[in-house]
Amino acid sequence: MKALITAGGHGTRLRPITYTQNKHLIPIANKIMLQYAIDYVKEAGIREIGIIINANDNSIQNVFGNGENLGVEITYIHQDKPLGLAHVVKISQSFIGDENFIFYLGDNILVGGVKPFINDFNEMNSNCHLVLSQVLDPNRFGVAEVIKNSIISIEEKPISPKSDLAVTGIYIYDSNIFEAVNNIAPSKRGELEISDAHQYLIENDFDITYSEITGWWKDTGQPSDLLDANRLVLDNIQGDNNGSIRNSSVKGEVSIGTNCQIENSNINGPMIIGNNSIIKDSVIGPYSSIGEECKIISSNIEHSIIMDGCNISNISKNIKSSLLGKNVKISSSKDSNQGRYLLGDQSNIEL
Ligand code: DAU
Repeated sequence: MKALITAGGHGTRLRPITYTQNKHLIPIANKIMLQYAIDYVKEAGIREIGIIINANDNSIQNVFGNGENLGVEITYIHQDKPLGLAHVVKISQSFIGDENFIFYLGDNILVGGVKPFINDFNEMNSNCHLVLSQVLDPNRFGVAEVIKNSIISIEEKPISPKSDLAVTGIYIYDSNIFEAVNNIAPSKRGELEISDAHQYLIENDFDITYSEITGWWKDTGQPSDLLDANRLVLDNIQGDNNGSIRNSSVKGEVSIGTNCQIENSNINGPMIIGNNSIIKDSVIGPYSSIGEECKIISSNIEHSIIMDGCNISNISKNIKSSLLGKNVKISSSKDSNQGRYLLGDQSNIEL
């Protein structure tokens, strides 16, 4: 079996972060989002991985190379334009050949990986195996209508969903999926929808089976999803200390990187702090990921993702549910009556 993982697309809902980096490189608990996908498929015994990237985006390749260091073999498949998930499958046919494959959306994170679903597919011996999850907001997803344990229809982002069962971004196929993606037309928004390919399989009597996710799963489409995914991953983190701690309290599971300095601070797990970061006179956590080379002085941070190289000093208000890109600097103004801002397009601040 091969794996096809997406790392292209628009990323518009995560601007401004995605102006400067591919969303699949955003860290969740200090691990790159796409790394979770690669780890999951590797754990399932798959070595040959195709990664879809936007044409002219070398950022993913710069991080993962040919996969040798990770013990996998990565082929990059360039998509000229994000023309839809069925288009992704269509342009990957020569990479996949006749093999069965798992199609995994690189912005999905789940607990327990994908191995159990591949086992289900092998046992059920179907043409297409989908992974469903109950959600509160089905109209954000592909939605499956299930009657007597059979999927009888699938609709993409329906206005009036027929169920609360979202089709997650984990799909396992045999090569009949290529017939489907080659026989559907673009949707109103101009994309070849993967849900339409699934509907084609249903209407043409192919065998579609499913598993339901019982643990947590997240499609990290929006900033709040990233913070939720960060929280869920941190819930399972194991504490370890490789830095130096002085006059501080560290409670719960906290992973502290090498050369970190923590002084006169309260660190409340679950938390992760990357290498070479300095925290002084501050209260941090719970549920925060601080990247590498960050400096946090006299400030309070909770439930946030702070990426590498950030510098935060003397901020009197709590920084909560926040997402800071790389090298962001926040400091208090010398004049208490006025602030000075240097914000890129679509920055978002609440004072
Ligand atoms: O996460 C589950 C949902 O994913 C499903 O319920 C939907 O049926 C499915 O259409 C998809 O919906 P999204 O709106 O979340 O898809 P999004 O545009 O965010 O793209 C998902 C991934 O695929 C992401 O890694 C970006 C990548 N992508 C997307 C498109 C449209 C590509 O690489 N190329 C593309 O053309």
